[in-house]
Amino acid sequence: MTTPDAGVPRGPAEGQDLRALMSLFPTGVAVIGALDGAGRPWGMTCSSLCSVSLDPPTLLVCVRSGSPTLAALERRGTFSVNLLHHSAQDVAELFSSGDPDRFRRTSWHLPDSAAAGPHLGDAAHAVADCRVDGVRRVGDHTVVFGRVDRVGVDTGPQRAPLLYGLRRYAAWPSGGSVAGPDRSRRGRSTRSDMPQPEESAPVQSPEEVLRTSGVPFTVLDHVPIVGQADAETKLGLATEQLLKTMVFRTADGGFVLAALPVTGRVHYGRLARAAGVPRSKLRQAEPDELGLLGMEPGGASPVCARPDVVTVFDASVTRMGIVYCGSGRADRTVRIQAAQLIELVEPTIEELSS
Ligand SMILES: Cc1cc2nc3c(=O)[nH]c(=O)nc-3n(C[C@H](O)[C@H](O)[C@H](O)COP(=O)(O)O)c2cc1C
Repeated sequence: MTTPDAGVPRGPAEGQDLRALMSLFPTGVAVIGALDGAGRPWGMTCSSLCSVSLDPPTLLVCVRSGSPTLAALERRGTFSVNLLHHSAQDVAELFSSGDPDRFRRTSWHLPDSAAAGPHLGDAAHAVADCRVDGVRRVGDHTVVFGRVDRVGVDTGPQRAPLLYGLRRYAAWPSGGSVAGPDRSRRGRSTRSDMPQPEESAPVQSPEEVLRTSGVPFTVLDHVPIVGQADAETKLGLATEQLLKTMVFRTADGGFVLAALPVTGRVHYGRLARAAGVPRSKLRQAEPDELGLLGMEPGGASPVCARPDVVTVFDASVTRMGIVYCGSGRADRTVRIQAAQLIELVEPTIEELSS
């Protein structure tokens, strides 16, 4: 019996064939950085990061040979590797845009005099300082081997890695569980992995998250409602201002929140793609599972305290003004500017409505 295969290979392969091949090989996203002779920062988005050896700890990156970042890196002999978290897509885009002002448009620092290159404190959840341990030109790129001198892993709320595959960005489907290194940049342990919320652990409610964020919002108290349609009929709110949140679970126990106008119907395929999970592995959450997110049925909210939850907003939300959305509780509704909600949640934006 014959089975479908990947197609009969055709050759000779060209650059675009390699691009097509590698687009099927998703990776994390890094910004490699270097300082030039005048101490100016250079950097570029890079996915050709590869572990080479554990002893000594060595990695490699492949950089286009005309890159000014490569020139700085070779001249100085050191470079930094910044691993971007899932909320840093804008930084990945900036550092792949050729924008000469990229370091003026993002926050960076040198933690101390031994920093091998710029550290992107806000956008990166892990940084390695490396020494150049060899270069090899291959075609139009240069392979740079880097001896990893020190590693820092930030295990704050932005722990899920940013991914790139199929020529688009995606978030890690159900949170990052990034193990910290044994030794810190300064020789101390940096292992401060934030514990993943246990299935039974209390989770901050969406309203508490909003309150501590400082984002302006108000809350309407009302009789308990079941669906968002209830908000229209029982609370008399305008349909076009209602944002509904649907809660999904992935096969590995993760959560995906989808926020869209109350009249929209979620396109499962697009949601699954945006969340980075196969469509067949996505199911709507049972009402009693909402408690794991600090929410109750009728109160599903696009704001969630759990950093491992993937949130996807329909693109139309970016064009909405004031919206009413769940607070976590069935008897309270949040009124908030859509733009501020987006700024707080930092969702993946997708055409979700079918
Ligand atoms: C997700 C992603 C990954 C990339 N990875 C690499 C890479 O590994 N090597 C490379 O040379 N360019 C890579 N690029 C392209 C560079 O980021 C882009 O050409 C950038 O403008 C280079 O900066 P420069 O002009 O300062 O050299 C990547 C782009 C994207 C969007």
